[in-house]
Amino acid sequence: MEPIKIAVIIGSTREGRFSEIPARYVADALSKRPEAQVELLDLREWPLPFFDQPVSPSMKRAPYPHDLVERFAAKVGEADAFIVVSPEYDHGYPAVLKNAFDWVFKEWNHKPIGFVAYGNAGGARAVEQLRLVAVELALVPIRPAVHIPWDAVTKAKEDPAAGLAASGERLPAFFDELIALARVLRPLRGA
Ligand SMILES: Cc1cc2nc3c(=O)[nH]c(=O)nc-3n(C[C@H](O)[C@H](O)[C@H](O)COP(=O)(O)O)c2cc1C
Repeated sequence: MEPIKIAVIIGSTREGRFSEIPARYVADALSKRPEAQVELLDLREWPLPFFDQPVSPSMKRAPYPHDLVERFAAKVGEADAFIVVSPEYDHGYPAVLKNAFDWVFKEWNHKPIGFVAYGNAGGARAVEQLRLVAVELALVPIRPAVHIPWDAVTKAKEDPAAGLAASGERLPAFFDELIALARVLRPLRGA
């Protein structure tokens, strides 16, 4: 069976960010699943301009006015499913993440998306908002999520494996749901 291509999106580009630690932990755990083909999609490597187009990409697609956006859209288009690793900023999600979502439309459509978040409420408020955004992009948000509490964040900065071990116990069921939905949704996209 063809592998399910899963992009793990690092949702923070901030200097000294934490997001990279759980993103690498999740990608590493996922890469042990034989049915998954994993790629880290680091928004630092995709310094997209601030969205400035006259029309939404849901109304008018490519050619995008920037080569980088065109390549980012192609990268999104390659994936069958997404995992977003997101902090919570001011009880919401980071602007850099929303900007990345806004630039693309068709390439997100009919693909499952799962969220791994962290913060003083395990990033729950950011995840709830991200789910709403995802629906408008015709992404399919999955019910399971991984919420990393603050003490685990502090510990993981010193020792990722120890700090993320408890949260990591939620990953098998999280991956199961994401992969199952990716399989079901593929035919809908004609893939
Ligand atoms: C602009 C800003 C707003 C923040 N707001 C929240 C918040 O609402 N809730 C929360 O739990 N943490 C909040 N924090 C703390 C972040 O959870 C913490 O800095 C975390 O490390 C950010 O993720 P990052 O390091 O991957 O960027 C905020 C941090 C920043 C920089």
